[in-house]
Amino acid sequence: MEAAKSSAHHDSAVAAGPVKKLRFAIVGCGGISKHYVQAIDQLDRACVVAAADKNSQTAASFQKRHQIPEVFTDYRDMLANIAPDAVCVCTPNVLHAPVSIASLHAGAHVITEKPMAMTPDECVEMIHAAKIARRRLAVGFQYRFHPTTQMLKRAADAGQFGDIMHVKCQALRRRGVPNWGVFGQKKLQGGGPLIDIGVHVLEMAHYVMGSPRPISASGNVWTFDGNRPNHVPCMWPGWDWQNHDIEDLATGQIRFDNGAILQIEASYIAHIEKDQWNFQLSGTCGGANWDPPQIFTNQAGAMMNMMPAYLPPMDFDGFFKAKLENFIAAVLDEASLESPAEAGLAVQEMIDGIYRSAEAGHEIALRQP
Ligand SMILES: NC(=O)c1ccc[n+]([C@@H]2O[C@H](COP(=O)([O-])OP(=O)(O)OC[C@H]3O[C@@H](n4cnc5c(N)ncnc54)[C@H](O)[C@@H]3O)[C@@H](O)[C@H]2O)c1
Repeated sequence: MEAAKSSAHHDSAVAAGPVKKLRFAIVGCGGISKHYVQAIDQLDRACVVAAADKNSQTAASFQKRHQIPEVFTDYRDMLANIAPDAVCVCTPNVLHAPVSIASLHAGAHVITEKPMAMTPDECVEMIHAAKIARRRLAVGFQYRFHPTTQMLKRAADAGQFGDIMHVKCQALRRRGVPNWGVFGQKKLQGGGPLIDIGVHVLEMAHYVMGSPRPISASGNVWTFDGNRPNHVPCMWPGWDWQNHDIEDLATGQIRFDNGAILQIEASYIAHIEKDQWNFQLSGTCGGANWDPPQIFTNQAGAMMNMMPAYLPPMDFDGFFKAKLENFIAAVLDEASLESPAEAGLAVQEMIDGIYRSAEAGHEIALRQP
């Protein structure tokens, strides 16, 4: 075992009071993991007891920065020695399934970062492992906790849009290829902007629609610039273009069992005026826009555009606090998970279907449960 101990004690209160605390471990100590630690530190019923990163220097500096009691270079050693109550999976996508399954087998509840996994088959295996282990498995889909998404979900559930027929999603960066991690490598990430950022807009739109069952997918992907040296100033210059084999632009269309259609565009390199992070929906008696939040209906004999006078802002730390609060309530109070593994599987089916359609050159039928 390669473990390093810190003198700090995040878990000092674990046995002290009447409140049961979930002992969390983090696997993958890169960019996103700090948001988990920062959020857990603010929550009464949680503490971080350990972390693992295959890079010992990354693990050590994470331990120092966040005062993690113990760190490991092998997550399996961490699971065996610490037996955490819950694990946050913050590794590259290729490890979401194996780390989640090993954690579930070790008796931990799991919240994995998005996308849930590389393929729908992996998602099915993860769901099966959670059932056998009788543990909760959540996907860190954060945008469904956003006040705008929640407002549109309430409107949809109240029937304000009627039947939602069409949804158009955009996750488009003008020039924003990640210049850290392994985001350009298909074998480690499963794809490019569609699986990495399209997944966010897709999951929140699908949630607002009421999670209809996807039945077929069609789409295409193009790589035209990310695999060449970059000479254009942008927010994240110097990405690893030599190992870049993901798409730069993806478009796709999903058909649902209720007849609704969802269209998505996702790109790290889109020749558009400015970045777009949005979805628009059209229903039989109303429509909506996510950014800016707007609802379009006919009222009092007129076409009406409605905007909320106030919605609480939610930053990145707010997202992580919200998703962890729900996860902790699901584990400790048996509350329902707002982003359960089944939602992750449906989203993965759609993404995978678009990629398979791009390869095949025609529409693809999606597997039905
Ligand atoms: N929710 C969000 O908004 C959001 C934002 C960014 C990234 N993410 C997701 O978080 C995940 C990680 O992204 P990131 O930006 O933190 O990447 P990153 O490259 O900064 O961090 C990944 C870390 O995992 C470690 N790692 C790799 N193999 C490992 C192994 N076998 N055992 C333990 N650690 C290992 C790496 O050393 C690295 O430190 C991805 O799945 C990504 O999609 C989510």
